Amino acid sequence: MIHLRGATSDVVVDAAHGVPVIVHWGAPLGDVDPTNTARALGRPHLPVGLDVPGPTSLVPEHGSGFQGRPGLTGHRHSGTAWAPRFAVEAVTPVEGGVEVVSVDPVAELRLVCTLTLGEVLRVRTRVANLGDTPYQLSGLHPTLPLPAHASELLTFDGRWIREFHPVRREWGSGSWLAEDRSGRTSHEHPPLVFAGTPGFGEWHGEVWGVHLAWSGNHSLLADCLPDGSRYLQAGELLHPGEVCLEPGADYETPDVVGVYSAEGLTAATWGFHRMCRSLPVHPERPRPVLLNTWEAVYFDHDTARLEALASTAAALGVERFVLDDGWFGGRRDDRRGLGDWWVSPDVYPHGLEPLIAHVRSLGMEFGIWVEPEMVNPDSDLFRAHPEWALVTPGYEPLTGRGQLVLDLARADAFAHVLEALDRLLADHDIAFVKWDMNRKHAQAGGAGGGAGSHAQTLAFYRLLDELRARHPGVEFESCASGGGRVDLGVLQRAERVWTSDCNDALERQTIQRGASMLIPPELMGAHIGPARSHTTGRMHSLAFRALTAMFGHLGVELDVMALDEAESEQLAAAISLHRRFRPLLHSGDVVRFDPVLNGQAPAGFAHGVYSADRREAIVAYVQTASGLSLLPPPLRLPGLSCDQGYLVEQVPLPGTWAHWEGNGLVLSGAQLAAHGIQVPHLNPESGILFHLTAV
Ligand code: DGJ
Repeated sequence: MIHLRGATSDVVVDAAHGVPVIVHWGAPLGDVDPTNTARALGRPHLPVGLDVPGPTSLVPEHGSGFQGRPGLTGHRHSGTAWAPRFAVEAVTPVEGGVEVVSVDPVAELRLVCTLTLGEVLRVRTRVANLGDTPYQLSGLHPTLPLPAHASELLTFDGRWIREFHPVRREWGSGSWLAEDRSGRTSHEHPPLVFAGTPGFGEWHGEVWGVHLAWSGNHSLLADCLPDGSRYLQAGELLHPGEVCLEPGADYETPDVVGVYSAEGLTAATWGFHRMCRSLPVHPERPRPVLLNTWEAVYFDHDTARLEALASTAAALGVERFVLDDGWFGGRRDDRRGLGDWWVSPDVYPHGLEPLIAHVRSLGMEFGIWVEPEMVNPDSDLFRAHPEWALVTPGYEPLTGRGQLVLDLARADAFAHVLEALDRLLADHDIAFVKWDMNRKHAQAGGAGGGAGSHAQTLAFYRLLDELRARHPGVEFESCASGGGRVDLGVLQRAERVWTSDCNDALERQTIQRGASMLIPPELMGAHIGPARSHTTGRMHSLAFRALTAMFGHLGVELDVMALDEAESEQLAAAISLHRRFRPLLHSGDVVRFDPVLNGQAPAGFAHGVYSADRREAIVAYVQTASGLSLLPPPLRLPGLSCDQGYLVEQVPLPGTWAHWEGNGLVLSGAQLAAHGIQVPHLNPESGILFHLTAV
């Protein structure tokens, strides 16, 4: 019996039997005998059940009587080894946790489960084929049990330009399943789920969260069995025949990452944020405010215009200039050119150097867009190597945005793309790469025509890792038609995600709120877009756009040369405001407060960042829709230091008319939590910003 103590939770593991079983994951238990925890929770024999109930282990076994979805599925070609039952072979302590090796001598399989606990619970499993015939793996899905009272779910729905929408679901009984076959993390089903006590909120209730740190196909299951036991299961979704383990071969799962808080969702999500912040790749220097050229010029690349855009951007306080799609090969629109990673002489007759030199002379960094995993049939690369496409022979390939996926699991295709990108980065002064991925996998046939999404995801990681190793000074952004590849797998090799192609500030309020449940603000790309959103047609004031985008890694994505003088001044003020608060925004604890509702629908969102020492805070209240009452309820701020006095000031947003009567009041943390401050009447789609400093 192993008792692990983490930052916010304890885990008790029974490692004495076949596959380790988590008997408790939740509130700290203190200095106790963990054996009694297991005894107290022992499940009795039921009248119609098996004499010994099958445990919900880290990889639950049908072969041991588990009645839910087995953690390991597969078989040998003879049909055997389909329902293994493992016996423990070795239990070894590892830093922060334990590794348990289990073997099934009948099925001739070895299972290794590694579990560590710190800010987060991390579980990784590996299955190896010990036999002398191939083992066809169908799935290996680590499983985390939950207590009976975790009977409400928070899941995430989404689609392009509407990612990360939180959805509450009662979970009295039965199961909820989300599967993704898009070959990327997906807009529709990011592998993230929370469960908690009924009605759990941002600051109350017990909450457990589970995320799969993986950028490919996946399956996420929340299941409640007829005996009342609950579990969350997360793993890679494998297509039929996709992973076959030859004798001696093994397969390892991505990490399943768990978080827990006894005090609501906000604190639970700090676990994910702290894990991100502890990664070696996590950026340490201030996040440069960037200008992205996409919604400013689209494919209309013209060096003189881009240079003027850069000059204007620099004068506004922008620190990084990112040249988006359209600079290479025959890429004059979105139907051609992908794969031809050489600077187009048609639009850049003197190469990119003059533009880069201009950008650098303005004191800005230069960034560039690529989509390395793709190829257009109308490209030199495809004409030379049609066999490199990730398609299934015998079928007409299915294009998406006029493009196909390139089979990066092929050594020749991989080497070609690696060399092309390596040359691009070696030959130019590039500090940042926006790495896009715009076509979902469909009939993605790899070597021999078999399913290739698994190998492709690993090849994507390898390619990015190799480029990072060759160009350690370059930062990378993960983008997939916006927020289609946001996960803690890719964030082990990227400094930013493009959260959504939607720059509409109203939509962004929900998208960023959802994304903030996984990633901290400094990783979350958030841009001030044009006054009229290109993806929704809505109009928003600069104050509202700035208030929304400032809670991320700020960017500007509009034609800054088309702004009039007043608008330019406001934009410069917004950038400077972000730069002023950036140290706090990008280091503190993200806080969210429960939405103000109008019936069932949210009408107001409040969120902010508290400094780790709780001596400073920045908080926004946003009126997303017209409220039920003229005034929103007072904004209460739990979680500051009760006895500490705070000077509360309204931060004037450029162009805003919102006015808070109490400006300059000093209130204690206890007052702020108990009664809070009365927010003024606000128009829908506007907001107000407060800064709190300890006095
Ligand atoms: C999709 C991305 O999400 C956009 O930001 C932009 O880079 C386009 N692709 C370019 O094709």
